[in-house]
Amino acid sequence: GAPVIADISGLQEGQRLIFEWRGQPIWIVKRSKATLDALPTLDGELRDPKSENLDQQPSYIKGEFRSIKPDISVLVGLCTHLGCSPEMKAEIRPEPFDPAWKGGYFCPCHKSKFDMAGRVFQGVPAPTNLPVPPHHFSDDNTIVIG
Ligand code: FES
Repeated sequence: GAPVIADISGLQEGQRLIFEWRGQPIWIVKRSKATLDALPTLDGELRDPKSENLDQQPSYIKGEFRSIKPDISVLVGLCTHLGCSPEMKAEIRPEPFDPAWKGGYFCPCHKSKFDMAGRVFQGVPAPTNLPVPPHHFSDDNTIVIG
């Protein structure tokens, strides 16, 4: 399929834009510094904190942020359990999810949880992190997906 050109010039911190690539929703989220600071503190609660399973991302995506630029996250927005659409719960909110919730994605179908890098928590049905699709920046405000 053809690559998708995503204009992110209007993307504000804490917001998400959704594009479609190969029939899949692609989420592009601009993360705050507080969100980025929280990610490494979650490593001990995650199934694959370093995202070492390379089936779920291109080889140039490394580290806890799972992104090319620290603040801009690009993910395939489908739960890796059975493909439901997780909800974005970006803000730190204690209820009804988890008193230690630091922001992330929550799948309503069978309660899988992912952090704001799409990393899956332990003890939930989803087996792997949310995939990162192949992508690159053609300029500061444009991401080419695919
Ligand atoms: Fe998301 Fe089952 S489809 S937890």
